[in-house]
Amino acid sequence: MLTTILLLACDSMDKDSPGAQPSFGDGFLWGASMAGFQVEAGCPTIAANDCEDRYSDWYQWVTDPDLIADPSTHLSGEPLSDAPGHYELYEEDFARATDLGLGGVRVSIEWSRLFPDGIAEGAETVEDLAGRANPLALTYYHAYFDQIAAAGLKPVVTLNHYTLPLWLHDGKACHADIDGCEDRGWLEPDRLIPQIALYSAFCAQEFGDRVDMWATLNEPLAVVLSGYLLPSADRTNPPGVSNPAYAIEVLYNQAEGHAAMYDAIKAHDVVDADGDGENSSVGVVDNLVALKPLDPASDLDAIGVENANYVYNLAFLNAVIRGEFDRDLDGVAEDIRPELVGKMDYLGVNYYTRITIRGLTVPLLGGYEKFTFYPEVVFEDYPDGLYEVSVLGASYGLPIFITESGKADPGDDAGDTWLRPHLAALLRAYNEGIDVRGFFYWSLIDNYEWNHGMGMRFGLYAVDTATKERTLRPIGEDYRAIVSSGRP
Ligand code: BGC
Repeated sequence: MLTTILLLACDSMDKDSPGAQPSFGDGFLWGASMAGFQVEAGCPTIAANDCEDRYSDWYQWVTDPDLIADPSTHLSGEPLSDAPGHYELYEEDFARATDLGLGGVRVSIEWSRLFPDGIAEGAETVEDLAGRANPLALTYYHAYFDQIAAAGLKPVVTLNHYTLPLWLHDGKACHADIDGCEDRGWLEPDRLIPQIALYSAFCAQEFGDRVDMWATLNEPLAVVLSGYLLPSADRTNPPGVSNPAYAIEVLYNQAEGHAAMYDAIKAHDVVDADGDGENSSVGVVDNLVALKPLDPASDLDAIGVENANYVYNLAFLNAVIRGEFDRDLDGVAEDIRPELVGKMDYLGVNYYTRITIRGLTVPLLGGYEKFTFYPEVVFEDYPDGLYEVSVLGASYGLPIFITESGKADPGDDAGDTWLRPHLAALLRAYNEGIDVRGFFYWSLIDNYEWNHGMGMRFGLYAVDTATKERTLRPIGEDYRAIVSSGRP
């Protein structure tokens, strides 16, 4: 009894008061993330033709035999039929999230499911576009969001988690000839941005009665690094080329795309789905990295870290939040865009790794002053990094959510060795007053990990590729305990 009273007393203490038992507050949103392309395929009974979304650039990227045979794409070639089949099994997957005690789930809408072909491009108004939507997909997403609500979960909906409709981006043609290809995705801003804004308006109007929290784009820098600058075995995104000038264009085109999507959602989500007084909260999801010098005593490495921080972490945030475009990446924004400012309600932060940096005397990319670094070690588990990126993200003055963080192939002890230390670091930021409002583990279930196929497993639930059976991993048990107590 005495222990109970003491625990209750501790719980009600202010989180900053000395001696308080540190825990995340009641309003903290615990969740798990997924992305449509990564989990939908592999249905146990629905025909592959309906289950798989065959009209996206990513479908083409992972299934085209020529691309798979091309060593520069680093594609596993694993068939999409090995994926978890969430398109069919979503109801039970959401029940699993509820069973873990989660309050939220991050999912994506697949643009090319709703608008598989170029007839969408002729539309000029939302109503016109609505008439061109694939009725099967429309019915599916309504049922999907109804189910999230029935499971008592708050949806955080990503409108663009990498995948673009094939009619806007032919990754294969652009991989072969980036200058000459026809459907050039993010390299055709005058075409893509109005289209993605109209699609966002449509989704906001159609699903706004179920969804309040929207994420426009997922990890713009990953699209750039793995698609246009440094595709590698770690990650290739279509079109998988190395072209610094195009890479920078794509980075800034995404900042403009976000702003157009923001305005479209704000204008068309007219329903307050969760009754909190706001129809919509719109942000972008950005991946931030922690950094360290290869040699702590080296000045060159220290400058390399500073510059890497600018390129990896700051350049996109400066653009999307402050309207500062630094197209030659020299650290000084020469193009200031006041009309893009004020179009972020929150910042979604994805955190996975600390990168070890070696400083260079000559920039790795000629003409770009800040590229005086080489990433020596790209993957390192570093729990304190979650503290560091939270502080960095919040320094832009917006509420933040950790929209992804997770451990690949988590061993049985990953709850203690990975999850608790990461969440302890996040709690430290929270207790210091950093405005972090939620944590979403990546991922609820094992997913098709882009070019790796099912070769990297992130799930709280393991998925059997043949039977589609889900099994809670020990890290999932640990997450449930943490969520229930509010403390790592
Ligand atoms: C992406 C996810 C991906 C995860 C793990 C993030 O880059 O948003 O789609 O599966 O990291 O690699």
